[in-house]
Amino acid sequence: MQTNEKFGVNSLADSRNRVEALLEQMTLAEKVGQMTQVEKDSITPEQVSEYAIGSILSGGGGNPDPNNAETWAAMVRQYAEAALQSRLGIPIIYGVDAVHGHNNVRGAVIFPHNVGLGASRDADLVERIAYITAKAIAATGIYWDFAPAVSVPQDIRWGRSYEGYSEDTDLVIELSQAYIRGLHKQQDNGKWVLPSVKHFVGDGATSWNSTKPPAWLPGGNWQAATDNWKIDQGDAEIDEATLNDYLRPYKVAVDNGALNIMVSFSSLNGHKMHANKALITDKLKDEWGFQGFVVSDWMAIDQLDVDFYNCVVIAINAGLDMIMVPYDFKRFVGTLTDAVQKGDIPQARIDDAVRRILGVKFALGLFEDSLGNESQLAEIGSEANREVAREAVRKSAVLLKNEGQALPLAKDLDSLIISGAAQDIGAQCGGWSISWQGERGNITEGSTILEGIKAHLTNPDSVIFSEKADFESGSRAAVGVVVLSEDPYAEGQGDQGELYLSETDIALLKKTREHCDTLIAILLSGRPLVITDQLDLMDAFVAAWWPGTEGAALADNLFGTHPFTGKLAYTWYRSMDQLPLGHLKASGEDPLWEFGYGLS
Ligand code: BGC
Ligand code: BGC
Repeated sequence: MQTNEKFGVNSLADSRNRVEALLEQMTLAEKVGQMTQVEKDSITPEQVSEYAIGSILSGGGGNPDPNNAETWAAMVRQYAEAALQSRLGIPIIYGVDAVHGHNNVRGAVIFPHNVGLGASRDADLVERIAYITAKAIAATGIYWDFAPAVSVPQDIRWGRSYEGYSEDTDLVIELSQAYIRGLHKQQDNGKWVLPSVKHFVGDGATSWNSTKPPAWLPGGNWQAATDNWKIDQGDAEIDEATLNDYLRPYKVAVDNGALNIMVSFSSLNGHKMHANKALITDKLKDEWGFQGFVVSDWMAIDQLDVDFYNCVVIAINAGLDMIMVPYDFKRFVGTLTDAVQKGDIPQARIDDAVRRILGVKFALGLFEDSLGNESQLAEIGSEANREVAREAVRKSAVLLKNEGQALPLAKDLDSLIISGAAQDIGAQCGGWSISWQGERGNITEGSTILEGIKAHLTNPDSVIFSEKADFESGSRAAVGVVVLSEDPYAEGQGDQGELYLSETDIALLKKTREHCDTLIAILLSGRPLVITDQLDLMDAFVAAWWPGTEGAALADNLFGTHPFTGKLAYTWYRSMDQLPLGHLKASGEDPLWEFGYGLS
């Protein structure tokens, strides 16, 4: 039986008596409240204390207005203080998707997405990033990070591929455990942050066209969005050996003291994971001895059955301890209470769930102090944080082609043209950045690739930048840099059947080519794209992934002050026929670039 003694001040074992003493005083309503997680826009602080709600979350882009670190701290504090006003004063735990830094907060540093960190192969760097992220969220009162994703994406058409470190399970384990260590690291107020290891299990192994949004779900945002859903939340048809492989990151996390697991929207061989008692209860809790609590994904239980009553019964009996409702909490509270009173959910199951939730809250030290460590607010977006992000940007870039020593660039270049997304922080950040989906443009503070290049040049005025490559006709520079980019996306919105450069980018590439002798192409994207037919147009090609706010650091690679060290954590396909990974492996063909490839 694991405890978290090695990283925290309070161990689960120490709190056992306190949990039992508290549990004895709790009414059914208070227990149900603890099992309920609500999105902050769907509940007031007063309701948190009235219903003794256990957890609040901010969904992607769940920001206060205006959006900055101080307003975040004030927003979260209102809920934390309200919870202390409830009859028993049980603290809430607030959760957020800080998946590449405290990425919803304007002004915070946004690190490269995991697809880039996978290429860095640098566990120490990932641990430092996680610690910075943990301190940033704790400064705003948040002690629960819905990360790391330990997905092992097998089909990069999946819109969440970039949230996974790699297509290789061992690399996922190495880097996700480093991330967990960083969150677990004790901060100066003695606190640490709870990781949510997600999405249990097989989220990266679903098949294309297997997503079937249930027809009974009400319209609105979710339904409209799911038109594009083709593989996200789909079905993983896999054998036992493959499943066991995807279970490994969870097992190691549990052994290392991780105390929260988020269940996947997806299905396993036709059965929804949120109903999978065999894996959630029998395997995770009973066989592995997991002592923490299991949380559902966003409205995921609603997909289990046309009747919400059945949804609740199935999910809680399968072993879910807390439900991310996230909107209509009164309906959930009412239904769960009803199901317990009717005997469809045993009282013992409720007590088990609440014990787990309270145990984690005690272990986190929330009963001593559930407010934010606001003395760390000033560090959010600090120069020291940005320096770590710059290191991450340089280490995640992968140099895939470099003909005629096109790179490194010379400092004294006197004619350089630049086109494309060289001046676009939003395109650098990708999804889960300020908003859920992310977007192009000046979404937050940071530095651009264009700024980085100019800073290296002896004569920065020699640069001509045109986003659309509208350079003077007949003009010709020694060197051109074109920044190609995917539009940002998150979750199933990014499911994409054809992974090519956009028509706009192909045109941009050709136009820039006409105006320079040597062309360097940089791709900002959440995954490899098929670029086989465009490769001849480029002398050098760099995959920069979604590097985040510190894009200027990429120029340190281009000018050779920091050599390229990144190695592909995902196979780079030659053609769409080669996808997904299993297909390529079975064919025995060569991809364009193998897993692990990268020039220095
Ligand atoms: C995602 C999770 C995320 C949650 C909260 C869900 O839609 O699948 O990864 O943690 O929303 O934003
Ligand atoms: C939220 C996300 C969530 C998603 C679920 C969005 O509205 O902002 O956090 O993951 O819905 O589909």
